[in-house]
Amino acid sequence: MSGKRLLTGIKPSGSVHLGNYFGAVKPFQELQNAHDFDQTFLFIANYHALTGRPTGSDLTEMTQEIILDYLAMGINESKTVMFLQSDVPRVTELTWMLNNFMSVAHLERAHAYKDAVAHGKDPNVGLFDYPVLMAADILLYGSTHVPVGEDQKQHLEMTRDLAEEVNADCAKEIFPLPESVIPNRTGILPGTDGNKMSKSYGNTIEMFADEKTLRKQVMAIVTDSKRPEEPKNPEECNIYALHKHITPADDLAEIERGYREGGLSYKESKEQLFESLKIFLEPFRERRHDLTNNSDEVRRILQEGADIANAEAEKTMRKVRSELGILSYSDF
Ligand code: ADP
Ligand code: TRP
Repeated sequence: MSGKRLLTGIKPSGSVHLGNYFGAVKPFQELQNAHDFDQTFLFIANYHALTGRPTGSDLTEMTQEIILDYLAMGINESKTVMFLQSDVPRVTELTWMLNNFMSVAHLERAHAYKDAVAHGKDPNVGLFDYPVLMAADILLYGSTHVPVGEDQKQHLEMTRDLAEEVNADCAKEIFPLPESVIPNRTGILPGTDGNKMSKSYGNTIEMFADEKTLRKQVMAIVTDSKRPEEPKNPEECNIYALHKHITPADDLAEIERGYREGGLSYKESKEQLFESLKIFLEPFRERRHDLTNNSDEVRRILQEGADIANAEAEKTMRKVRSELGILSYSDF
């Protein structure tokens, strides 16, 4: 295996929002377009989603939605190999093998597991083993680079530890040691209540909500109680924080003036944000609409992705099986 390979996994988990776009999709897109990597991979981590025990129909729907969302938001399938985790079942075989190189004590120190225990939950083995499945995702394709936010750093460290352990055991480089890439982040987007925008806080502005819902979400943005004519500090305003990402520069300067000099009410600022959002979101919606009506195209993209991913997986697993002494009938 050679060259620089970038890989990321996306858990299917409900409606994507502006925070996901600016915090994850856009930075990935920039990496995808930067020609710094020989190959980029993006997959939908639907096996990982099982740890939360969604119903089958919920997981089916979330998986279908997230594929359309990511394609519509600009994952370019001519540059990125996009596939479903479950279309490469070898990943579960590698997980089983890696399990034998991971100590229970090490997994007990993983944040997600520790949090679950701290909250009095009774974690299932899937959740406990989540980091090993994630390591298998990364190592199966010989990934050299993984974009990681704070929350995933520990997982990548565990992946490196596993790769080192296997390489040491086999006295050769079976897996390259993956490095983290810190994407060009735009910072954390605040949600409508001023906290980090997140599905779990119910404070999102969604990328693909209908116009009525979008309006409701924008109008729900929390502000202080300054009157329209009072001067306001834009840097302290949740509406303005979103304007900065969405609204074109000239209009933004106008809005900033309105805030500082007084005269622009929060209500008007929200109306303007709503208008900017409609323009900003339009091309994404159009693409998503086209894809919704073109399941042949979606199937083709996922199939081509799965074919490439499976070919890589086979190459890796041939080596790993041989090193570990796992046989097939064809070895006789
Ligand atoms: P959520 O918090 O809505 O459940 P996820 O945890 O699924 O979102 O995050 C998916 C990706 O989107 C991650 O890379 C995360 O860093 C990014 N992301 C989520 N919310 C924000 C936000 N408010 N600002 C910037 N990036 C975000
Ligand atoms: N654990 C990641 C998350 O919660 C998703 C993920 C699964 C992933 N496998 C991966 C990310 C491999 C990067 C590489 O967001």
